[in-house]
Amino acid sequence: MLYSKEVIKHFQKPANMGKMPSPDGTGEVGNPVCGDLMNIYIKVAKDKKGQEVIKDIKFETLGCVAAIATSSMITEMAKGKTLEEALKIKYADVAEALGSLPPVKTHCADLAVRALKAAIEDYRKK
Ligand code: FES
Repeated sequence: MLYSKEVIKHFQKPANMGKMPSPDGTGEVGNPVCGDLMNIYIKVAKDKKGQEVIKDIKFETLGCVAAIATSSMITEMAKGKTLEEALKIKYADVAEALGSLPPVKTHCADLAVRALKAAIEDYRKK
């Protein structure tokens, strides 16, 4: 399987990897087929316009190369965005930002999108 340079870069040096102490929202998702697990943690704060913005974001992923690369990429894409903007990030946006993803790895990027969504929903429930 051939990964793009960007995928390899994010796999070898992932951004925002690690646990976040007392996050405002946590999203945990798993893939029952491959058994991979992903957690995304967010800190939310209001900006000058009173909009809720993702101030900090981290991830922990037990998974394949593509799962780690997409976790890393989605945290970079979501950081600094409003919750509404972050909810609009789709699988295709993450795949495009990574150059490309092999078709069999579609579900890995989808996992990252679902984890981010779950973290925002968790924050909104609190
Ligand atoms: Fe399971 Fe990639 S193979 S997330």
